Amino acid sequence: MKWIIFKPIAVILLLALVPNQKVFGQLDEIQTKVEALLKEMTLAEKVGQMNQYSGFWDATGPSPREGQAKDKYGHLKSGMVGSVLNVRGVENVRKMQELVVEESRLGIPLIFALDVIHGHKTLFPIPLGEAASWDLEAIEKSARIGAIEASAEGLNWTFAPMIDISRDARWGRVMEGAGEDTYLGTRIGLARIKGFQGDDLSLNNTIAATAKHFAGYGFAEAGREYNTVDIGTSTLYNVILPPFKAAVDANVKSVMNSFNVLNGVPATANKFLQRDILKGEWDFKGFVISDWGSGLEMIDHGFASDLEHVAEMAANAGSDMDMESYAFISHLQKNVEDGKVDIKVIDDAVARILRVKFELGLFEDPYRYCDAKREKDLLYHADHMEAALDMAKKSIVLLKNEGQVLPLNKAQKKIAVIGTLADDKNSPLGNWRLGSDDNTAISVMEGLKKYTDQITFAEGAELVVGHVDFVNEAKINTTDKSGFAEAVALAKESEVVLMVLGEHGFQSGEGRSRTNLDLPGVQQELLEAVYEVNKNIVLILMNGRPLTIPWADKHVPAILETWQLGTQSGNAIASVLFGDYNPSGKLPMTFPRSIGQVPIYYNTYSTGRPGPKDIVFWSHYSDEVNTPLYPFGYGLSYTKFEYSDLQINDSDPTKVEVSVVVKNTGDRAGEEVAQLYIQDKVGSVVRPVKELKGFDKFLLKAGESKTVKFTLTDNELGFYNNQGEFVVEPGDFNIMVGPNSMELMIKSWVKK
Ligand code: NOJ
Repeated sequence: MKWIIFKPIAVILLLALVPNQKVFGQLDEIQTKVEALLKEMTLAEKVGQMNQYSGFWDATGPSPREGQAKDKYGHLKSGMVGSVLNVRGVENVRKMQELVVEESRLGIPLIFALDVIHGHKTLFPIPLGEAASWDLEAIEKSARIGAIEASAEGLNWTFAPMIDISRDARWGRVMEGAGEDTYLGTRIGLARIKGFQGDDLSLNNTIAATAKHFAGYGFAEAGREYNTVDIGTSTLYNVILPPFKAAVDANVKSVMNSFNVLNGVPATANKFLQRDILKGEWDFKGFVISDWGSGLEMIDHGFASDLEHVAEMAANAGSDMDMESYAFISHLQKNVEDGKVDIKVIDDAVARILRVKFELGLFEDPYRYCDAKREKDLLYHADHMEAALDMAKKSIVLLKNEGQVLPLNKAQKKIAVIGTLADDKNSPLGNWRLGSDDNTAISVMEGLKKYTDQITFAEGAELVVGHVDFVNEAKINTTDKSGFAEAVALAKESEVVLMVLGEHGFQSGEGRSRTNLDLPGVQQELLEAVYEVNKNIVLILMNGRPLTIPWADKHVPAILETWQLGTQSGNAIASVLFGDYNPSGKLPMTFPRSIGQVPIYYNTYSTGRPGPKDIVFWSHYSDEVNTPLYPFGYGLSYTKFEYSDLQINDSDPTKVEVSVVVKNTGDRAGEEVAQLYIQDKVGSVVRPVKELKGFDKFLLKAGESKTVKFTLTDNELGFYNNQGEFVVEPGDFNIMVGPNSMELMIKSWVKK
């Protein structure tokens, strides 16, 4: 306890604690400590706690004010920094923590943050891929392992999970979320928070989570990154906010606001979101971190005149910590002195931040997360690799399997593997992997070689030219077809062709919006050229978002969606191809037929002219059907499942029981995700044609059946009206159960 000796505040605290404990009796211990510490702090020190800098490098965007960033070390020593992001590694973290704890007046420890999005060193599938598993236990475990590895590198706070719902595959960040559905997204968000935070935040292997981005970021107009968000109350209350409310109820420690303007007001200065809803109605006890420079961006939004104005508006609206805008650190003290920001606003923000630091155990031991042995032992641990493989297998979705092309026979001769992604050890790691090492994925080729020596490889089309980084990623789409001839020749003499096509790992993620969801570059042409000579194709897609692949759906007999599966990619894909794992994933996001259908999602309203009708005046396109190529919740298996006997038992109206019998009618064991949807047929605010309200994933042996049970309470049956009140209305409902959002058994039911 070296720090106690040289930190006078420790002594003051200890003294202060005794009477406080008696006076405040029931007030929790941490609150007492926070209040005592606040009393010791100068205004400048309080503002310092509300300031977050990026560490050694600017990892996720341009550093807004290079000049001031140079002063970082001076600021650390003088207690002008509450947290840093992008500093990792026990040695680095310890050094920086020492600067602050030993040299600043009060020695208040820093919190070290990083975007730990889908694993840290050992990489799991991108979050959208994990969501396709519908396996909450596996997803929680993935986050748990991310926390174990990140904390072993000295970190104690992640900017995850992203719980933005998005219906727009043009938006590159859909790769970081759980897809289009609020119910599924909420449950997955909760699993991730549990995985990161565990049951005891003070343990050295749990880290604080962040629910982000509050709010509406996934609804950027036209899917263009950072674009305006303008949405109605019904969508806000029923689609966007529920995952955040659930995260708050689950005690998430921080919430990140967002870059976007929501209905004319930037999220960072949005009192309605941050004060009225988050900290008011929901009684959020953690703190709000701004997004990177989102304060500063309010000047470009045309909402703040200068940085001083930014600081005033952001603080007053409930933003507690400023990431890389330099607004609080430069102007908040003056704002308070000028009477523009009440000291109570500052005290409240600082108390929230200190509380989390206490909960993390940082006051007890600021070096709690700096254990070099843990760092050495835990990164890339064999158990983590095994869990990553399990998660990767579960994330794969079988989209088509005509004529049972899959699984491949292990004795299969002459397999051609085509596509540069097949031989890539980097791209399958996906985007958002700040802690990881490049080229550490098992490639598809490596995975396949463990099963067979019958494979030959041709690149076909180059996907990436040059270096892919923050600035350079535009070079992804090459037009070079010089590799086609080799690929076609190889396909011609092979019995089966595995074509590994899709997006480069850096083609989705932040700043990677697209106006076209086709296979990038010349890959579609390559696919068609190969098809000319060999139709026995398995298309293995790697991508960070839904793609438009109507041609492939029509022509190619087998299609596997593999997203970007992380470290164990090739092993997972090979085990599915050869049938050692029977695919069980289901799409968490609708796959459109064409880009013009976007945004396309399953839980739409009916419109007044639903159709189809014989006349032209109904809600449709004249050049495309309304239905998607693959619906939400869709995914095949190597076996078959049959649904029967849908029953509703409402003898206890507070817990309506829905049951269905699912039978594995195929000849091998497989996992199925049974899905429950409801439709509230008449509402005081119109309700979607269907909404997911339950799911269950289970394994059935060949021939085995199971009665699957769901429970509907008012939580599932109600909705938010346009005043933001949760209402439950009696009346007619449709209750639907099935293997995906379009193949459903249906029964009417009346809620009394
Ligand atoms: C910007 C992103 O929007 C946010 O999600 C992330 O946590 C920060 N950069 C920090 O890296």
